[in-house]
Amino acid sequence: MTGKFVTFEGIDGSGKTTQIDLLETALKQRGISTSILREPGGTRLSEKIRDILLDHKNMHLSLSAESLLFVAARAQLMEEKIKPALERDKFVICDRFSDSTIAYQGYGRGLNIEYLEELNNFNTDSIQPDLTFILDIDPEKAALRMSSLALDRMESTGIEFYLRVQEGYLEIAHRFPMRCVLIDGSHPESEVFELIMKVVNKKLLKEMSCS
Ligand code: TYD
Repeated sequence: MTGKFVTFEGIDGSGKTTQIDLLETALKQRGISTSILREPGGTRLSEKIRDILLDHKNMHLSLSAESLLFVAARAQLMEEKIKPALERDKFVICDRFSDSTIAYQGYGRGLNIEYLEELNNFNTDSIQPDLTFILDIDPEKAALRMSSLALDRMESTGIEFYLRVQEGYLEIAHRFPMRCVLIDGSHPESEVFELIMKVVNKKLLKEMSCS
């Protein structure tokens, strides 16, 4: 695999999507062939699974079923989109990836983290991102940012849940310092982006050929 693989993580309302849009624009301006994907989703099948996962009608979804559905959506995305794009030298940016399962289902829902890590390795062929940006934000602030939006099933879970998810992300950043960059997501968007671009330039772009 010769492409580059960057993931963005953080609790809902942490500002990932804005930063992904900015990064996509910057990469395209430099003529870098980019593929933007999101989780759960990104393929026809994975988007169907996304609908099940986020639908309020499915409040009774069991925690193990929830985990397996997230993992299934990722397995399909990996096979259909991520691997082929990396093989074609693309710069792949994914809005969430395996760390979300550890933070949300592991720390947030309290499921066994080692087991989830094994599942993640199994369904991604142990392919890891080259770089993961974790946008950290206080769950109360994130909730304020999202207060005008209609919340989906996951987002309706409550502040206690998000505090555990946030703690999970901090732990992940601590455990994988070579791959993860922890960024204060409460800073102005332009400052956050400046930092992201600096890291991308330093760690990834030097090695990439522009098309
Ligand atoms: P989405 O609307 O994409 O949220 P965001 O814009 O914040 O990324 O919904 C994805 C939701 O699914 C989000 O609440 C996080 C959750 N999620 C998990 O719980 N586990 C996972 O493995 C993934 C990929 C997402």
